[in-house]
Amino acid sequence: MEKISLNFNKTFDFISKDSIFSYKEEIENHNRALFNKTGKGNDFLGWTTLPTSITDAELADFEATAAKLVAKNIDIFVVIGIGGSYLGAKAVVDALSDSFAHLKERKNPFILFAGQNISEDYLFELRELLKTKEYAMAVISKSGTTTEPALAFRLLKQDIEEKYGKAEANDRIVAITDASKGALRSLSTTEGYKTFVIPDDVGGRYSVLTPVGLLAIAVAGFDIRALVKGAVDMQKASGVDVPFEENLPAQYAAVRNELYKNGKSVEILVNYNPKLHFLAEWWKQLYGESEGKENKGIFPAAVDFSSDLHSMGQYIQEGERTLFETVLSVASPDREVRIPTDADDLDGLNFLAGKRVDEVNKMAELGTMLAHVDGGVPNIQVVMPKLNEYYLGQLIYFFELACGMSGYTLGVNPFDQPGVEAYKKNMFALLEKPGFEEATKAIKKRL
Ligand code: PA5
Repeated sequence: MEKISLNFNKTFDFISKDSIFSYKEEIENHNRALFNKTGKGNDFLGWTTLPTSITDAELADFEATAAKLVAKNIDIFVVIGIGGSYLGAKAVVDALSDSFAHLKERKNPFILFAGQNISEDYLFELRELLKTKEYAMAVISKSGTTTEPALAFRLLKQDIEEKYGKAEANDRIVAITDASKGALRSLSTTEGYKTFVIPDDVGGRYSVLTPVGLLAIAVAGFDIRALVKGAVDMQKASGVDVPFEENLPAQYAAVRNELYKNGKSVEILVNYNPKLHFLAEWWKQLYGESEGKENKGIFPAAVDFSSDLHSMGQYIQEGERTLFETVLSVASPDREVRIPTDADDLDGLNFLAGKRVDEVNKMAELGTMLAHVDGGVPNIQVVMPKLNEYYLGQLIYFFELACGMSGYTLGVNPFDQPGVEAYKKNMFALLEKPGFEEATKAIKKRL
């Protein structure tokens, strides 16, 4: 199989190859701890073997459910969820979709999201739009109690029931949640929705290869089997039997930890294709929520080049020298656009005539990498041969496994997120939620 590749030569001006390879034993141990489920957070390690454990029957069920929804001639499929219950599907669907899909004729419905914010304007405008469209929806929450999606679902559930009548509305709603716990599970049982289970041992941000991500990706018309196959191949190529020298996630985990030890505390994920914008958002959640704890962790940031070369490029070239970049590169674009010759050459671009636009993009990429390294920003490069389901599957598993190894190397539990509770406690206290009376009194004194 052709694999995504990893190149970290452009970090050697800052850290030595030997120092990277000195992580070999430690990271191989972490890999064993992940697969043998003996490390921190070992209740949440189901994702390590998820790709090879997805059955044909499960995939067929996702595909059949997607086909049934699409057969209702829906224009829009609304996915209600936040964090790990939103970003994986959004990342993959955006990466694979036509950039202007929303304005073109399509075979499959357009995927829209709700419950990923609490903006009144957003919800109002979405509800107005849905009045004029045919639609169905999935509501996704592992805990089944998260406020943002629960609030959005309360509104959209009433709307869909009003539009189609209760029985048909219930046939257009799929719930994806825990097998037994949470308000969403009991609500779904009462309403008789089609449901899928999020495995207990797979945390939100590691759940894209469960129904959380796969249903919406299938509804959008993409090949979930190829996506899973990519992840399976990466799982096999980075298992405990694969030595550090050949194990790409292990090497990525080592390089970023060594850079962090040497003062590079901000990692910027760079893309040169706007379709990857949400892949970077997914990656930011994966690494930020997994590693940012105990007052440590690399801060994950992202830029879209070349757009952001005309904004953030200045800071990256000459600002604080705490940065390193990981460039997500796609070797070959799907489409071909050649630059034409112009007889007058008034714009002075005839030196590019006959070249593909991607050649210009690639020279921007190479030139930027060299400039940033010269400016004190080490560069790692991850190359996908093409932007398709198979390589996205590889990439997802690559980043997930590297994140587990990297978190263990940093000494934290990469599978919990105790810090996200603080805002919820304050929000509930301010909203006077029953059970928060003491917190309400305390917080009001601070206002
Ligand atoms: O990674 C995580 O666990 C979180 O980001 C969750 O995905 C997010 O908070 C949403 O949680 P839930 O699916 O329980 O609504």
